[in-house]
Amino acid sequence: MPALFAEPLTLRSVTIPNRLFMAPMCQYSARDGYPSDWHLRHYSERALGGVGLVVVEATAVSPEGRISPADLGLWSDGHARAFEPVVRAVRAAGCKIAVQLAHAGRKASTYPPWMGKGGVPPAEGGWEPVGPSAKAFDEGHSVPRELAPRELEALARAFGDAARRAVEAGFDAVEIHAAHGYLIHQFLSPLSNHRTDSYGGDAAGRSRFLREVVRSVRASVPDATPVLIRVSATDWIPGGWDVEECARVLAEVREDGLDFVDVSSGGLAPGAKTPVGPGYQVGLASRIRERTGMPTGAVGLITTAEQADQILLSGSADAVSLGRLLLRDPWWPARNLPADRRRIPPQYLRAF
Ligand SMILES: Cc1cc2nc3c(=O)[nH]c(=O)nc-3n(C[C@H](O)[C@H](O)[C@H](O)COP(=O)(O)O)c2cc1C
Repeated sequence: MPALFAEPLTLRSVTIPNRLFMAPMCQYSARDGYPSDWHLRHYSERALGGVGLVVVEATAVSPEGRISPADLGLWSDGHARAFEPVVRAVRAAGCKIAVQLAHAGRKASTYPPWMGKGGVPPAEGGWEPVGPSAKAFDEGHSVPRELAPRELEALARAFGDAARRAVEAGFDAVEIHAAHGYLIHQFLSPLSNHRTDSYGGDAAGRSRFLREVVRSVRASVPDATPVLIRVSATDWIPGGWDVEECARVLAEVREDGLDFVDVSSGGLAPGAKTPVGPGYQVGLASRIRERTGMPTGAVGLITTAEQADQILLSGSADAVSLGRLLLRDPWWPARNLPADRRRIPPQYLRAF
């Protein structure tokens, strides 16, 4: 029986050749937001390895939205042009490519993981982070400045402008990063959003910024372009954002033009009790799929073909994202897709 993960998936006018996605993974290898030779090699090699969709790592919509000074950005047309070789190389391998549009909010201006912990001071190229409320992520992180409503309108426009640039650079799709405790998630969770204006309070208030971002992005890309979203479906903290509230918000926001939900979890605050283990977030994807009716992706410690196929066959998700597995082994899809459905570059055929 052909493996379900070898089947194409069509979102709007884009047909992804199989159900294996490369999860977005920060490389901390950009300068002033521009992609480097590293990005060209890193993404094109995974595309050659046969994955169906490459999702380029968190890419900031404004300079202050970078997690670290070495993050990618799409805040100018010059950045968009610099992405063109990466996009061309991935598409030439028969793979589709999306970019994850992001703003780190209170988790901005931190060191790349191998360079230090916590906030980077201005003397070392850091900046003052912003957020829904003046509450730091953790000790060692700066207290963010609370964003004013007119700044939020500008940020929603910045997401839209970055999405337009992504399409101009040739990306097939865009993904809105609403997960892992970054700015949009900070608005969604009652644990990080203490606002008393129309961007806080109940679920409608806390999801207002997300809605404005989704509307701005959808209005900035052609109808043919899929808009994906990555969510943390739960904070894994009592009293926090949870899968039921997440499903209710998504069921409403999807009407603004979302086509696919990539379901992750956590990252909002220290002290989360995450039950890490094989496929530990699949149940969340399944719940979101059931409650919203949206095409859904599962991610997190999915490392065997049997596991990936079971997730799809059981109807828990419509696609599977592979993260660290593809860092270790870019050729995993080529070796695990059925022989008649895999995509081997002709130059390498004799190796398979
Ligand atoms: C080095 C690294 C960087 C990551 N950067 C991002 C990112 O930019 N955006 C994001 O949504 N998730 C990011 N993640 C999370 C992954 O996309 C993925 O959800 C996580 O690694 C779990 O999947 P896995 O077990 O297949 O690796 C990152 C993970 C790693 C290991």
